Amino acid sequence: MQTGEIIAMTDKYVMNTYSRIPIAPVTGAGARLYDADGKEYLDFTAGIAVNSTGHCHPKVVEAICRQAAELLHVSNLYHIQRQAELARVLAEASGLDKAFFCNSGAEANEAAIKLARRYSRVSGRSEAYEIITASGSFHGRTLGALTATGQAKYHEGFEPLVPGFAYVPFNDLAALEAAVTEKTCAVMLELIQGEGGVHPIDPEYLAGLSRLCKEAGILIIIDEVQTGIGRTGTLFAFQQYPGFKPDIVTLAKGLASGVPIGAVLATAEAAKGFAPGKHASTFGGNPLACAAALATLDVIVNDGILCNVREVGAYMQQRLEELQAASGLIAEVRGCGLMLGIELKEAKGAAVVGACRDRGLLINCVGDKTLRFVPPLIIQKSDVDEAVQILASVLLEAL
Ligand SMILES: Cc1ncc(COP(=O)(O)O)c(C=O)c1O
Repeated sequence: MQTGEIIAMTDKYVMNTYSRIPIAPVTGAGARLYDADGKEYLDFTAGIAVNSTGHCHPKVVEAICRQAAELLHVSNLYHIQRQAELARVLAEASGLDKAFFCNSGAEANEAAIKLARRYSRVSGRSEAYEIITASGSFHGRTLGALTATGQAKYHEGFEPLVPGFAYVPFNDLAALEAAVTEKTCAVMLELIQGEGGVHPIDPEYLAGLSRLCKEAGILIIIDEVQTGIGRTGTLFAFQQYPGFKPDIVTLAKGLASGVPIGAVLATAEAAKGFAPGKHASTFGGNPLACAAALATLDVIVNDGILCNVREVGAYMQQRLEELQAASGLIAEVRGCGLMLGIELKEAKGAAVVGACRDRGLLINCVGDKTLRFVPPLIIQKSDVDEAVQILASVLLEAL
């Protein structure tokens, strides 16, 4: 099938929820994607921070094929070996104690919200149900996660939203202090706001927030759906803040290299909120998804990928800063590891994304000014050179 036919079929049969870019990738290898017409792209979007080990990493493909031939799915009515193994790997790597598995980032955040509310009930704070989140945050599209998302544009048309959420400006400790009441059961936030425009948290704010929450018995939920599993150069982004330990962490995107999975990690104390019957997922933690996640973690931890993210990420940041100085078109370069963004001075994000695509580079744009780069974590400096060269040609020639 050619691209045109795929687009026509999509338009006819698939609901109209995405402003899709008019290409149809059909195969991939490493950081390269190939569309239905045979055109090659350098992929600096990676399924929006999903294809962490690159497209079709041989070790991940092998693990998926082996597991598919052994056992695809079995219910959580039973014990699931791969799920238990994955929970152990994640617990040992994070310092948290227990995992719950689901199928997406939004679901992981829903589970975290329910866990926080339940924890209040079982820990004698039954009046506490409210969750404070940050303006500019993004936590997903299901109703609870959508309500947690601190951006009005995502709420419009879906009211009434879920009661029990409050919003504070990001990185403003005084505002958080003022928002905390006896009703607050948790604070939920990203360490780098991804969809909000690649905005990192201020470490002093995080330290202050942590102190405040510990003193008041409020749980800290860190949404690492985008930052997790090596994206920022450590397995979890929270590990870059010495002394900081969240109560609950949510994961999805890069955890299984593209096989749908979500996870909630929690301290043994916070995990007391859940008991049999309180939460569940038919597919959550099934053998196939867990096998893909185990292989992904093996590659990331044992094949030097974290080191690569730090080295290549720093190199890319430097190349983008050079482009900022040379072009005069970039207001700011932000981010960490291989989660980087540049804010353009003018609202021309969509035009830049389109021109890069025509020249064989896939990037994406959050808002109308910020270009986001979340490539596979296996990219090399030569891939960065190629991407920056295309971006520079677009910025300097096409705009
Ligand atoms: C930080 C964060 N949380 C949650 C989500 C929602 O994840 P999903 O689309 O898998 O439901 C996203 C998706 O972009 C995200 O970036």
